[in-house]
Amino acid sequence: MIRKVPQDFLLGAALSAYQMEGAAGTDGREPSVWDAWLARPGSGYDGRAASDFYHHFEEDIAAAAAHGLRALTLSLSWSRILRANGTVNPDGLAFYDRVIDACRAHGVEPFVALYHFDLPDAYAREGWLAPGTTEAYLRYARVVFQHFGDRVRHFLTMKDPVTEITQGYITGLFPPGQHFALGRAVRALYKMLVAHAQAVLLYKSLSLGGSIGIAHRAEGVYPLRETKADLQAARRDDVLTNRMLLDIVLAGRMSLRTRSLIGEILPDGESFATNDEELEVLGRAAAALDFFGVNYYASHFCTKPTDGTSRITHNGVGERGTSAYEIAGISRRLSREDVPTTDWDWNIFPRGLYEMLLRLHEEYRAIPIYVTETGLGLHEHPTDSVLEDDDRIDYLRQHLAAVLDAMEDGVDVRGLFVWSLIDGLSWTNGYDKRYGLFYVDYATGSRFPKKSADWLRDLAERRLMLTLNAIHTRTTKSASDEN
Ligand code: BG6
Repeated sequence: MIRKVPQDFLLGAALSAYQMEGAAGTDGREPSVWDAWLARPGSGYDGRAASDFYHHFEEDIAAAAAHGLRALTLSLSWSRILRANGTVNPDGLAFYDRVIDACRAHGVEPFVALYHFDLPDAYAREGWLAPGTTEAYLRYARVVFQHFGDRVRHFLTMKDPVTEITQGYITGLFPPGQHFALGRAVRALYKMLVAHAQAVLLYKSLSLGGSIGIAHRAEGVYPLRETKADLQAARRDDVLTNRMLLDIVLAGRMSLRTRSLIGEILPDGESFATNDEELEVLGRAAAALDFFGVNYYASHFCTKPTDGTSRITHNGVGERGTSAYEIAGISRRLSREDVPTTDWDWNIFPRGLYEMLLRLHEEYRAIPIYVTETGLGLHEHPTDSVLEDDDRIDYLRQHLAAVLDAMEDGVDVRGLFVWSLIDGLSWTNGYDKRYGLFYVDYATGSRFPKKSADWLRDLAERRLMLTLNAIHTRTTKSASDEN
C-alpha cells in the first residue's frame, strides 16, 4: 500500500546537548551530573567529546536541510548557560545563538528543549530532590526565554522526565544512581512536573508569542496475558510510566484512580504530599500547554513479579536476551514471542505508538502532538562511507505508518522527529549503539549520510512511502483500557 504523508506534516530529527555536543570544558561550560557519573571507574565511555556537534553544527544543520528535514529538536546545556554561582555565561548563549542562526539560515525550525537529563553537577547526590533545583531551573528558564524567545517559536520545558526518574531512582543507571527508591521516584517526578508547570506559566507571562510543550517517553504498557494478575501488573507499571505524568501535564490534576494506583506502588509507610498552591499551578499550566511531545521506542509486556525481590539486569552492550526487569510489588517486564526485539532487547511494536496516540486523544484534552523522538539503535560498521541501515528504514516506515493511522483516526499529530540526526552517546550504552541518520566517525569527527537519511530525503520530497501492513488492528489490551 502507498501512503501519503501530508504536505504540512513536519519531518525532522532530534539531538541533545550532552549526547552530541562534546566540548565539555569549552567556553566556560561547567560540569553536569553526567560528567562525574561517566568518570566513575569502569564506566568505559564519557561525553567529553561526544559527536563534537559543538564544532560541526554548521555542517550537521546544513546536511539536515539538504536531506529535506524542516525542523530539529535540540536541548540546551544548563551548565553552559547558567553558572553555579547564578551568573550567566555569555559564551554559552553565544554558542546557541550561532546554532539557532544556522537553523534559521537553512530553513530549519528549531524546537528548543530547556533540559534533557543534564542537571548541573551541584545536584549530583540527590538529583531533582536536592533543595534549590526548581528555583535554579526557573532562573535558567527565564534567561533562555528572554534571550532566545524572539527567534525560537517552539520550546520544550524538558524531555523524558519519567526516564530520568526511573533510571535515577529505580534502576540506578542514571545519576543519582539510587536503586528501587519508589517513594523518591514518585516525589522527584512530581517535583519535576511542578517545575515544568511553573516554566510553562513563566513563558506565558513573558508574552513572547511562541508555543511551549513537554516531551514524554510514552511507552505502551500491556499485560503479557489477559489474566487478572498481569492486568494488575500492567496498571501498576503504567502509573509511573505514563499515567501520573499524563494526568498532571494534560489534565492538570491526578484522578482519584491515579492517586490510588500511586498509593499501591509506594512502599509501606511512604506517602506523597501535594499542596493547594502547586495544584493550582498544575491546573493553569495544563490549560496553557500548547503541544505535547511523544517519544516512542518500545512498549512493555508485564506480568506478575515472581517474589518480593526486585532485579534489574541491564543489557548495555547489545547482547540479545540478557536483560531482566522486575520491580517487587509492581511488575516484571518480559518479551513476547511474536514481537521482534532489537539487540538491546527493546521490542519493536509500532502498534504501541498508534495506541498511545489514541489514548492521549481519547482520555485527555485535544492538543497538537509531535512525535519528538523515535528511532532504532543498531551496531553499525560502514564500508567506505556507505551504511545500508535497512532495518532503521523499516522501523521508521512502520512507526510513521502508525502515526498516519492515528491521524486518520482523528489524532492531531503535527510532525515526527527521528532520533537522532547524528550518532551520539547513548546514556547507558556508550557509543556502540548508534541511532543517527548520519554516521559519525568518532576518531576523525567526519560524518556521512546513511541510507536512512537518503530515504528520508526522498520521503520529504515526494511525501510518499510504502507501508507493508495496516498497524492498527487492536488485539491487545493496554493498561489504560482497564480503567
Ligand atoms: C530517549 C532519550 O528516551 O531514549 C534519548 O530521550 C535516548 O536521550 C533515547 O538516547 C534512546 O535511548 P538509549 O538508551 O538507547 O540511548
